[in-house]
Amino acid sequence: MRVRQATPADAPMLARVHVDTWRATYKGIIADSYLARLDYRAGEERWRVSLTESPDSDASRGRIVLVAEHEASGVVGFAAGGPNRDKDTDCDGELYAIYVLPEHQRRGVGRMLVAAMAKSLLEAGLHSMVVWVLAANPSRRFYENLGAREIKQRKIEIGGQQYDEMSYGWPDLHMLSRSLQV
Ligand SMILES: CC(C)(COP(=O)(O)OP(=O)(O)OC[C@H]1O[C@@H](n2cnc3c(N)ncnc32)[C@H](O)[C@@H]1OP(=O)(O)O)[C@@H](O)C(=O)NCCC(=O)NCCS
Repeated sequence: MRVRQATPADAPMLARVHVDTWRATYKGIIADSYLARLDYRAGEERWRVSLTESPDSDASRGRIVLVAEHEASGVVGFAAGGPNRDKDTDCDGELYAIYVLPEHQRRGVGRMLVAAMAKSLLEAGLHSMVVWVLAANPSRRFYENLGAREIKQRKIEIGGQQYDEMSYGWPDLHMLSRSLQV
């Protein structure tokens, strides 16, 4: 398994990981009708456009997308991060998304992606990191396991429904990075 920067050629697999992992993770949390409408093709197009944009464009300024690539199965997970989009919290960096295909979870891929993201954010001059997670998502234990502290809560709307969301933060990316070195 290796972690590398995503390229536009990864768009189909990024869309697959995104849709399949959303469906598996949010079944029973987010409405079935919403999950059924998730679309590989539309996702692929969005990824292709965003990964083709110049790194300096407004849409992608500072955004980092990393993929975890398995020798035999290809891309099995990804993480996206960059400057914090919510200026209300103290963290300057943010993990925007992290998804690992269900059949590859709990084998250390998520840890590898977080380690690589922490390193990339540090290289980009950022010092801390926040992540938002649905309160009902059991994966929040993943962040707790990595030493993140709960910061605050908010409501978000997905498909016309309100959900509780909470943020976790790592105030010191150097410390997180060191704790993830094997
Ligand atoms: C969250 C996620 C990225 C973690 O990646 P992963 O490769 O499964 O995680 P790792 O194998 O590196 O896990 C490291 C540790 O985190 C904890 N952990 C990970 N997922 C967990 C879960 N669902 N429930 C409880 N603990 C979890 C465990 O302590 C695990 O160690 P262990 O397996 O030895 O007990 C992945 O499970 C995933 O994609 N989940 C679904 C999508 C999702 O919820 N993404 C986050 C949206 S904010």
